[in-house]
Amino acid sequence: MNSDITIRLLDTETEQPAALPLLARCFPDYWEQTAARNKAFPFDEISFGAFLGEEIVGHCGIIPYTISDGAGGTFLFGGIASVAVAPEARGQGIARNLCLFAKDWAAEHGYDSLPLYTGKDRVYASAGWFGYTSTSPRQIVFPAEYLRDTSQTLCGSELPDNVRALFIDLYEKQDFCGKVLRGVNREYLGWRRIFQDPAHRFAYGEGITAIFFDDTLAECFAENSVPDKDICCFLAKYTVNGELICALHDTFPIWTALANCGCKSLPCNKDIMHSEHQMTLDIAPSMPHRGRLIHYSLVDKF
Ligand SMILES: CC(C)(COP(=O)(O)OP(=O)(O)OC[C@H]1O[C@@H](n2cnc3c(N)ncnc32)[C@H](O)[C@@H]1OP(=O)(O)O)[C@@H](O)C(=O)NCCC(=O)NCCS
Repeated sequence: MNSDITIRLLDTETEQPAALPLLARCFPDYWEQTAARNKAFPFDEISFGAFLGEEIVGHCGIIPYTISDGAGGTFLFGGIASVAVAPEARGQGIARNLCLFAKDWAAEHGYDSLPLYTGKDRVYASAGWFGYTSTSPRQIVFPAEYLRDTSQTLCGSELPDNVRALFIDLYEKQDFCGKVLRGVNREYLGWRRIFQDPAHRFAYGEGITAIFFDDTLAECFAENSVPDKDICCFLAKYTVNGELICALHDTFPIWTALANCGCKSLPCNKDIMHSEHQMTLDIAPSMPHRGRLIHYSLVDKF
């Protein structure tokens, strides 16, 4: 990297907003509108900037969040996001060095792991990140006897408050490795965005909820008292040609319910990540991703 480039943590109030025009240039789809509407970042993100003199030419962010380890403990994760380098400054290692700087900062501040989603794997692989696939999509084939009724999923704005509360309550009752401790009012990795995001569709019944991400079943939770056949009937309403694509954690009780009802689960090659790949970098001595299956819900994809 050019020795005139310096990298530093940005003060959230006074310095972070200066990164908005850079992000708008590099991510016109999302950040251009966001930067036009906001004078500050619209969610909690820790920012690192690369500077040539006074000019910001690169940015890397960390979105902090906590997950359950599924065994009574938690991990502090930092989602790597908003990695951008000004077009005229690319190709000299600025993105790699920003990621390395963020990693060192995160290590000093007690983070356990730094996951991300990208279609540009080399940028992060060159800084030590590795590919991590948590949940491969499966195709559930329902027995014909369950395929009587159909129903439509809803968008978040169509859910009354008591139904939103049901989604939150059933999620809170679960524990699995990778469960994001979602805030109710948190913009990112929280319920507010989950209910607002048009990519999310919702379905619910008596003691049962389901969230779909781009037509893939991303979450489904039920009260223990709901019989297996009711779970199967409920989900069967949202099948296409008797099938449902899902990306659920292997340990979710829903699998047992569906298997008990005679559903088949087949491998499937749907591109549920939209050509992005999951990567991560463990920085804690506990190495969260070693020897553990950490579920990354599509609903929490950032
Ligand atoms: C992607 C981006 C951040 C790269 O910035 P950069 O400073 O040019 O990247 P670096 O010079 O640090 O490159 C590091 C490594 O990634 C590779 N790389 C750089 N740009 C890449 C790209 N667009 N796709 C794949 N690999 C890329 C480099 O070849 C280098 O690999 P090497 O060590 O094997 O030579 C920059 O092109 C950008 O801002 N793009 C638009 C926004 C974006 O897509 N951000 C990433 C979102 S995941």
